[in-house]
Amino acid sequence: MSRQNVYDNPEFFDGYQELRDEAAGLHERVLEPHLDELLPDLVGKRVIDVGCGDGWLCRIARERGAREVQGIDPSSRMLQRARELTSDPRVTYTRGFVEDVELTAGAADVVTSVLALHYVEEIAPVLARMASWLAPAGTLLAVIEHPIVTSQNPKVGLRTVDGASVWPIDDYFAEGQRKERWIVDGVVKYHRRLDTILNAVISAGLVIERVDEPGPSTARAEPVDPDAIRPAVLAIRARKR
Ligand SMILES: C[S@@+](CC[C@H](N)C(=O)[O-])C[C@H]1O[C@@H](n2cnc3c(N)ncnc32)[C@H](O)[C@@H]1O
Repeated sequence: MSRQNVYDNPEFFDGYQELRDEAAGLHERVLEPHLDELLPDLVGKRVIDVGCGDGWLCRIARERGAREVQGIDPSSRMLQRARELTSDPRVTYTRGFVEDVELTAGAADVVTSVLALHYVEEIAPVLARMASWLAPAGTLLAVIEHPIVTSQNPKVGLRTVDGASVWPIDDYFAEGQRKERWIVDGVVKYHRRLDTILNAVISAGLVIERVDEPGPSTARAEPVDPDAIRPAVLAIRARKR
């Protein structure tokens, strides 16, 4: 199966780095203010971070006491950046798609994935793989682009209706591939209904402990901040039986 590895596209990678360097995106505005609620206790834990990108969460996990962290990502450019950002010997990086990478069953106490699973075509088998890497009673944390955001087809973003800004949702029930312009044309993501995502977690043998739809700590100054009027991300924390 051919999968998109857009983070290795030089134009996309440079544009993405610029956005991250601005330090005013979802990580800083929506995720970091909520890390205490989102993250499980990581002290002494073995962590696998799926779609680790530049290792943002790998470094945070170590700061929060994780014993060792393994980041998984298909993008060699993102992994090169990740390696530049830490020389911590307890953080290791493996190149591969989550669908293919071979890891030892039960090797992790915590498996995380932040803003990566909406790039995966079939979420149920991937969540089952991630659950298989967990030790008994281990915790999964999946943060994914919210179905309200992924549903639009084509992606139109905010619209003005009767003078008010609205986020149209017109293709919610039509699951599947979405292509959008984000830095470059043709970025492929996958839209799934909320019930599909939650049922895939349950089918993976996990018990859902917490669901969050965090909003921004401060709204952007520009005309209307979409992240302040609809959830940008869905966060699910679940435990292996
Ligand atoms: C928006 S970045 C997020 C990176 C990191 N988790 C963070 O929050 O900073 C999405 C990452 O998912 C990775 N990714 C895309 N498809 C993937 C797949 N099938 N398996 C694993 N990672 C994937 C990309 O290469 C990219 O590094």
